[in-house]
This record gives sequence, C-alpha cells and structure tokens, in this order.
Amino acid sequence: MLELLLPPPVDPLWDLAEAFEADARPERLNLVLGVYRDHTDTTPVMAAVREAEMRLAERSASKEYRGLSGNAAFNRAMLSMVLGAQATVERAVAVQTVAGSGALRLLADLICRTRPGSTVWISDPAYVNHRPIMEAAGLKVRTYAWVDSEGRFDESGMLHDLRGAGRDDVVLLQGCCHNPTGVDPTRQTWEKLAELAVRDGWIPFVDLAYHGLGDGLDEDLFATRLLARRVPEVLIAVSCSKNFGLYADRTGCALVVGASRPALRHAETALQNAARTLYSMPPEHGAAIVTTVLEDAELSALWREELDLMRARITANRTELTSQLRALGWEGEAQALSQQKGMFSMLPLTATQMLQLRNQFAIYGTTAGRINIAGIPQSRVCYLARGIAEVLGTPAR
Ligand SMILES: Cc1ncc(COP(=O)(O)O)c(C=O)c1O
Repeated sequence: MLELLLPPPVDPLWDLAEAFEADARPERLNLVLGVYRDHTDTTPVMAAVREAEMRLAERSASKEYRGLSGNAAFNRAMLSMVLGAQATVERAVAVQTVAGSGALRLLADLICRTRPGSTVWISDPAYVNHRPIMEAAGLKVRTYAWVDSEGRFDESGMLHDLRGAGRDDVVLLQGCCHNPTGVDPTRQTWEKLAELAVRDGWIPFVDLAYHGLGDGLDEDLFATRLLARRVPEVLIAVSCSKNFGLYADRTGCALVVGASRPALRHAETALQNAARTLYSMPPEHGAAIVTTVLEDAELSALWREELDLMRARITANRTELTSQLRALGWEGEAQALSQQKGMFSMLPLTATQMLQLRNQFAIYGTTAGRINIAGIPQSRVCYLARGIAEVLGTPAR
C-alpha cells in the first residue's frame, strides 16, 4: 500500500527549521517558529508552571480517564478567564481540546456537522494552518483583506470583503496579536465587526493564541469579550501553548457562546462526538497545570507577572529593532513595525530578499517575511537590523 503514496508536500516552516539546524554558521539566527525565547536564548518552563507541576506530583493525582470534555475545572477556569463577565460565562460551554489546533478542528467539525458545506472566511494572509484545518473538516474557505501594501491594517478592505459574508457563513478572526502580520484592528473596528455580525447574521469564530503577549491579558481579550457579549453565537478556540509556555503539553479549549441552554448542550455533545472520533479524550497534564495555577491566588499572580515579563521583552525587542531601522534610514518601515503587536512581525521584504537574508546573514524568517520577534536575543537585534537594511538597499532620503 505505502508504495502508492506520492511524496508528501513539505511543510514550509518545519523545512526551514531543519535548514536552520543544518546551518553551521555561528551567527545563525532562527526567527521561524513561534516560540518565546528568554535572555538566555531558551524557551523556559514558567516558574508558576514548574511549581504547579511539583504540587501535582506531590498530590500524585490519579491518571484515571477523564470524560470526553476533558478536565471540568480547567474548562471552568478557561470560561471565566476568556469571557470575564459572569453573564457571558452563563451563556457558554467549554470542551478541553488538544491545544489551540485541536480547538480549531473541533469547532470546524461542529460547523460542518451543523451546516455542511458552510464557508469560513479567513484573513489574507492567515495563520498557515487555518485553511488546511478548515478544509480538512469539509468547510469552504474564502478570504478577507487584512493589510494594505504597506503592511498596515486595511479596515476598509476587510469591511468591504466581509459584506459578502451572510447568515450561513463563519468569520475566523484572530482575537489579538495577528499571526503572521502582528497587525490588529482598533477597538472601534472591533465594534464595527460586532455590529456587522449581528446585522448580517454571520458567526464570529475567534482564534485566541497570544492573549497576554500584546497589550496585557485583559486588553488582549477585549475583542473576544466584546463579540461574546454582543453577538448571539460565537465560537472561540483557545490555546495555552504560548501564554503558559505549554507548547508540547498540547493544552487548549473550545468555547461556544450560544443563545439557549439546550442549544449549548447540543453544541457540547457535538464537540464531544467530534473528539471521540478524532482522539477520544484530550491529554490531562497541561490542563491540570493551568487549573492549579489559575485556582491559586499566589500562583496565578506569579504567572501574570511572568506573562508581563514575556510581553515586556517582546515589546522591548520590537522597539529596539524599530529604532535601529530608523537610525539606518528606514523610517517608513520602522513606523509600520512599531505599530505591530505580539510574537510576530512581517518584514517589508520580498521572498527574494528573505532568501538573501538567509544566505548572506544566516537570518531565518519565513519566505513571506514573518519573523518571530520573541525569538531575537537582545544582543542580536542590531545584527538583524543591519541585515534587513542591507537587503533593503539604499534608503531614499
Ligand atoms: C493563530 C494561531 N492559532 C492557533 C495556533 C495553535 O497553537 P497550538 O495548537 O500550539 O496551541 C497557533 C500556533 O502557532 C497560532 O499562531
């Protein structure tokens, strides 16, 4: 049977990561994958997470099966953290998933089971896995504008495209720190989007992967909470990979906000059934850690402090890169970069220039120009800025 397989398409991100590993140049800089690195250039286990793991080990909790919805206390903690207001929490259900990716897939399955052949609108450009996950679940995909040619948020383009979305459609929106562009709508635009969703009847599907890494945890949850308050039905995929540093523990949650209790119960059962046919139950370890942290006032405060530190480091990196580019004469490019948020930024470079950056300076970003701002060692920001300036050429003064 296996001889019938065609060579599978290579995953561009993991392919670049492999090329980086094989690169022997000492000055090499890996800005491809979306992981946070601290001042020692490692991806640390957060102190709050480590403490929670020790407490869990001491308690030696049973490894008995959990239900199809996973860890119930984790689901409650996610509902109240993400939605905030009790009135909204009461209009929602949560099912633990295999990280944010698992939540995206389960919610896509829910849409497909409810309205087969629905269309999901994703941003252009989008997170690299949005289209494949939606299509694998059987959904049609259309795109809406996100940035203009200068890399700035394109509000009019987006609103224009979304006029095409109607009652049977779902609009996938990243709640904060857009991947790959780092460009987010303003609060006023989110208000307009909530109005549009109510007026035209489409369902917002919020992907939350970077809350806490943009402007602050509550600030980054503004859009999600607004939509959940205003729109009758909202789907939310939550990842704990980045803000708890639990990348490998595959921790996340699918939330559904709905208009009635019976509808919510059906949604929960549909998500459970989707999970049953994919992997049965989600893994417990990460969910137990998050619950231990969020249920303990001291650990929770420590986690928030660490999250603030991560955010501050990301912001400092972006500010430093911006001022270095400015000093090298690239004012417009620096200005666009300074308005971006979160782990990623798009460099104003073509695919050829990104290749030049890799070949000449051993700086690895994606071919489309995305770099992981959280992955730049502080001491290397200057090197990166010089590399970018070099491939950009001579600034027009
Ligand atoms: C926008 C976005 N959504 C979802 C995810 C999924 O994250 P995970 O499955 O690791 O929780 C990512 C990961 O990079 C992402 O960037």
